[in-house]
Amino acid sequence: MRSRSDGLPVRPGGAWTMEKLAYVEQSAAAFTRAMKGKWGRLVYIDLLAGPGRGVRRDTGEEFDGSPIRALKVNPLFDHLFLGDLGRKTVNALEKRIPPRDAGRVTLLCGDCNELATRVAAQLTGRTLGLAFVGPAGFGPRSTCSGPSPPGRLTFSSSFPIRSGSCETWLAS
Ligand SMILES: C[S@@+](CC[C@H](N)C(=O)[O-])C[C@H]1O[C@@H](n2cnc3c(N)ncnc32)[C@H](O)[C@@H]1O
Repeated sequence: MRSRSDGLPVRPGGAWTMEKLAYVEQSAAAFTRAMKGKWGRLVYIDLLAGPGRGVRRDTGEEFDGSPIRALKVNPLFDHLFLGDLGRKTVNALEKRIPPRDAGRVTLLCGDCNELATRVAAQLTGRTLGLAFVGPAGFGPRSTCSGPSPPGRLTFSSSFPIRSGSCETWLAS
């Protein structure tokens, strides 16, 4: 399915998708507002990021996906790690990232479990990260967990986790 506005792939969703995204956006904004200046670097991690734009199945209304919403959060995240399994999905997302924001983004393509390890290796010192795990059709055998470096980054869901040299808040 393609967007009517930019011709790139979009992800179909429903009312619940909008609700979920509103919560993500509010949490991200609260996160940067509360933590700006208290940590060396604030990062947003979304390794099931999708193409950055969705469309409602019932109304045809188009809306920004989680990575584009996170880019717009004010105060800004210092850096965003955005990834997806699908190459075409990542390509679409890349085209939707405004040039002014490109320097704040690391784009990744691959399985979230493998990407999580790569991202964790880049989190040093006083980094605070908000990781959004927003799967769909994503079974229990394919959760975003797996091995991650101890004390750096742990993927789970719905509650803050504090560990080692960085702290990661997770939501699903
Ligand atoms: C519901 S969409 C994400 C939507 C996005 N988080 C949002 O809220 O706008 C789920 C995405 O996860 C991706 N995905 C599924 N399994 C994955 C995996 N094992 N690793 C990375 N991405 C995966 C799919 O390609 C799809 O784009």
